[in-house]
Amino acid sequence: MQSPSQTNVPPPWSADISEIVLSPPMISGRVKSLAHQLSADYKGLELVLVVILKGSFMFAADLSRALQIPHSLEFIRASSYKGTQSSGEVKVDGMQNVNLSGKHVLIIEDIVDTGLTLQGLYQRFQGEGAKSVKCCALLEKDTERRRQHVPKVDYVAFTIPDRFVVGYGLDFDQRFRHLPFVGVYRQ
Ligand code: IMP
Repeated sequence: MQSPSQTNVPPPWSADISEIVLSPPMISGRVKSLAHQLSADYKGLELVLVVILKGSFMFAADLSRALQIPHSLEFIRASSYKGTQSSGEVKVDGMQNVNLSGKHVLIIEDIVDTGLTLQGLYQRFQGEGAKSVKCCALLEKDTERRRQHVPKVDYVAFTIPDRFVVGYGLDFDQRFRHLPFVGVYRQ
């Protein structure tokens, strides 16, 4: 795990969460530096953030506010997970009114585990006429099954070991998305 500045889980959550992996100050500091880098890389380009709901909502809100360049936002849903196991299928909803033609697309993901969701999204965006398609993820899991998959994550805020984490947008069966930190879920 990273070195969290705060390891004690607040009492309301300690029954479900064993450890804080990313504290709010760690997250906000990294989001700011990522936004700085993105603002330089996409300067002068027509940028659209394609936010993958629901897990990326908090990350996207903070990242978007920290960007120092004009950009638009689109929100779609992609699901490949049941409980804590990857199902290997990617379902994409909400693309009907999204026009990516001529734009530089940055997919905003909460976490890349196997990479199957990202692979599905890249496939879905192919042929939409975008000038470029890249991905910015809050978290990437450093696992063997991750390394077996092709999609490259262009921008990663944090790489974490193979643990199931919740908070800062990430859920377990729709719980814990609202937490301001990322913690390990007690399974
Ligand atoms: P992948 O297709 O295996 O890369 O899984 C990506 C998706 O699975 C993410 O967008 C999350 O919705 C979900 N996911 C994977 N790992 C976790 C986790 O540790 N906590 C919560 N959701 C996760």
